[in-house]
Amino acid sequence: MTKYSQNDAPLFEALKKYVDENVYAFHVPGHKHGKGIKEFTEYVGSAVMSIDVNSMEDLDNLANPIGVIKDAHQLAAQAFGADNAYFLVNGTTSGIQAMIMAATEPGDKIIMPRNSHKSAFSALILAGVIPVYLYPEIDENLDIALGISAEQVKEAILANPDAKAVLVLNPTYYGITSELEEIIKIAHEHNMAVLCDEAHGSHFYFHPDMPPGGITLGADISALSMHKTGGSMTQSSLLLSKGNRVEPSSIKSILNLMQSTSASYVLMASIDVARKQLATQGKDMLNRVISLSQYAREEINKIGGIKALTQSDIKGPYLLDPTKLVINVSKTGMTGYEIMRELKLKYHIQLEMADLSNIMAIISLGDDINTVEHLIHSLKELVRIKNHDEITTGNLIRPEVIVAPRDAYYGKNRSVLLDDAEGEICAEMIMAYPPGIPMICPGERITKDIIDRVKLLKEQHCQLQGTEDPNIDYIKVLGHVYKV
Ligand SMILES: Cc1ncc(COP(=O)(O)O)c(C=O)c1O
Repeated sequence: MTKYSQNDAPLFEALKKYVDENVYAFHVPGHKHGKGIKEFTEYVGSAVMSIDVNSMEDLDNLANPIGVIKDAHQLAAQAFGADNAYFLVNGTTSGIQAMIMAATEPGDKIIMPRNSHKSAFSALILAGVIPVYLYPEIDENLDIALGISAEQVKEAILANPDAKAVLVLNPTYYGITSELEEIIKIAHEHNMAVLCDEAHGSHFYFHPDMPPGGITLGADISALSMHKTGGSMTQSSLLLSKGNRVEPSSIKSILNLMQSTSASYVLMASIDVARKQLATQGKDMLNRVISLSQYAREEINKIGGIKALTQSDIKGPYLLDPTKLVINVSKTGMTGYEIMRELKLKYHIQLEMADLSNIMAIISLGDDINTVEHLIHSLKELVRIKNHDEITTGNLIRPEVIVAPRDAYYGKNRSVLLDDAEGEICAEMIMAYPPGIPMICPGERITKDIIDRVKLLKEQHCQLQGTEDPNIDYIKVLGHVYKV
């Protein structure tokens, strides 16, 4: 075991030592501690530029850690209760792709929720894996997807005993968990690995009032965005593994296929320090975040006309992350997108996300009572001036899967006007980002519902992506005519 404790940040310490040594840098990056890009360095600060270095003996190498990165990995594994931890410099996206590729082989089946993030669908294309989709129940009043039940997973496992793995969102973008403990038990009984997408769950491991982390409950592998709720810098994430159901040696080898050979030391050091902070002060910091979120919920629910979700609003056995402030605005006469835009224009507030019926504010380690009060007061003003007609909503559409995602992606395709695409098989994804849940994936049949939804979201100036055509007037469909 490492000679360090959770109070140490070995990679960060090694970087500071390297800077203190004041060496003549005849290595890349060519900006040489920021001196070669003065305008940028003056703005971001010379300290950050001086730790933007490349792999060298004292600083170890992410591709084959044997020094300070290995020590930092071990401390991260220990902090999260995992056997192994790996720093990721291409976000949780790369972790999700790596864990799906490590747990499966081309042609294998994976059981996964249809409301997964686009990274899971891109993994299906990269890995040639066949999805067995689980559809979460939709709460029609709140217009959000709930979690996945153990019963749903059991049925899928019994119908697909040859599947290799089950992917679980812990939690969804909206902060809602699934029946994870039972799902892990059932999957393991059938010798399937459980992979957790914990992009929104890195803080779960550090406070008893949070839903439990996947690794704590016995999942085999988890990809988590330290940068979302753990305090590190954007794009820095962790992959954790426990046990040998997914071979650690294959995880390392796949990560080396996926990741840059020039991993950013700024990003990696920020994971090292964020892990130290969570392990040593996480509980106290999260106590404050939970109280702030609780206060915000209570005050927002006094406004009238809008509803900040609480645990008691969530039907079924699913838990709600208490720090995610999801506010249903479907009775304001405005869509979530419109409210998000007005909050930005009139009150200088940038929310995390909106959909047709909801807005979402993240309350996290960096918030204080002043930021939260500003949000509450702005919502009070904004909602008061609006009428209260109900709007149409719609969260998850269930397209029919006709062709495997990889075959559709690589298949012969052609471009058609979105208006003419009904009945065709899609060859690309379309999603609102955030949350990055595809409305349609390669291999699925395009229906009128989907075309109407895309048009509605375009009218709402929602950020849509995934298609080759930036305006989404055209969409790529399979070359063969599959129209019914
Ligand atoms: C549920 C979910 N999974 C995975 C990801 C990908 O994470 P990252 O942005 O760290 O690559 C996201 C990003 O928003 C997400 O919401």
